[in-house]
Amino acid sequence: MPRRILAIESSCDENAAAVVENGTTILSNVVASQIESHQRFGGVVPELASRHHVEQITYIIQQALDEAGVTMADVDAVAVTQGPGLVGALLVGISAAKALAFAHDLPLIVTNHIAGHIFANRFVHDMTFPALALVVSGGHTELVYLQDETNFELLGETRDDAVGECYDKVGRVMGLPYPAGKAIDDLARDGQDVYDFPRAMIKDDHYDFSFSGLKSAFINKVHNAQQRGESLDQADLAASFQAAAVDVLVAKTLKAKEAYAVNQVIVCGGVAANSGLRKAMKEALADCPRPVDLLIPPLDLCGDNAAMIGAAADIQYVRGDFADYGFNALPGMDLYD
Ligand code: KG4
Ligand code: ZN
Repeated sequence: MPRRILAIESSCDENAAAVVENGTTILSNVVASQIESHQRFGGVVPELASRHHVEQITYIIQQALDEAGVTMADVDAVAVTQGPGLVGALLVGISAAKALAFAHDLPLIVTNHIAGHIFANRFVHDMTFPALALVVSGGHTELVYLQDETNFELLGETRDDAVGECYDKVGRVMGLPYPAGKAIDDLARDGQDVYDFPRAMIKDDHYDFSFSGLKSAFINKVHNAQQRGESLDQADLAASFQAAAVDVLVAKTLKAKEAYAVNQVIVCGGVAANSGLRKAMKEALADCPRPVDLLIPPLDLCGDNAAMIGAAADIQYVRGDFADYGFNALPGMDLYD
């Protein structure tokens, strides 16, 4: 009998539900983005996100069931993101999951959003361990050592801005709508790395990152040019920024890959959609002394979605790792507890 998990994700500004079979097959994956509502504020407004989640969630869950061609009677468990994320946004998904599990007498699984990004790769390829994951999103930039499916160690993380946040902030200075990652990526393809932005900590003997210096250097470059009445080439600016960000991400990942004898390198999270990062990581891993498999989800599974939550939850289902109804949202939830 196939295991079917109905997964719900509402940690930020995407309202999402999916039905996943045996952890590796997507029967449906519905994502309702709220971007247009948040765009005029230049970022996600937490209270607005919660309100939209409340309005959308029942419809999105129904759509996920319909597109999968199943009813709740065909579902074996309900999974939901417990954190990290915005507390009000998380609570909407959690309340829906608890209500559905209670009404249909199904087990509940609480899942970590970052684990979801990592296990999105189950849809691509068999995952083998130990593995190294570079998690790059709007809220996170971390290198994680995965000893097996359940034991994770944080090797390093950003000391200030997440890389996606940095993309979004420099995009604002360039006059691009939020979130700016994809627009900068597109512009970068037509530009050259001419501005020599800093590659913070690239040679340091640790796995932490820092992107605030890159952001400041970028903003200073643009403001100085504005004051002098000069115009900078947008494509060159984007290409220079992207080259600096990608160089550091790839160098640190390679350093960790050499130090830990991993079988696979995983790149995941919204910024894993970046074409420059995908290409540079592939080339670097193909050229290194002991090449290993590189796993990156397809573009539609890089950003927030609920299928990834179903993939992570399936591992918990198999282990019998179920929750009772007392759990709460954990906005700062740790992957390493
Ligand atoms: O994982 P995600 O959907 O949400 C969080 O958990 O944060 O990541 C969103 C981030 C945003 O900062 C967005 O600008 C960035 O991913 N992003 C990209 C690209 N597509 C999305 N950054 C760089 N290049 C892209 N192609
Ligand atoms: Zn995310």
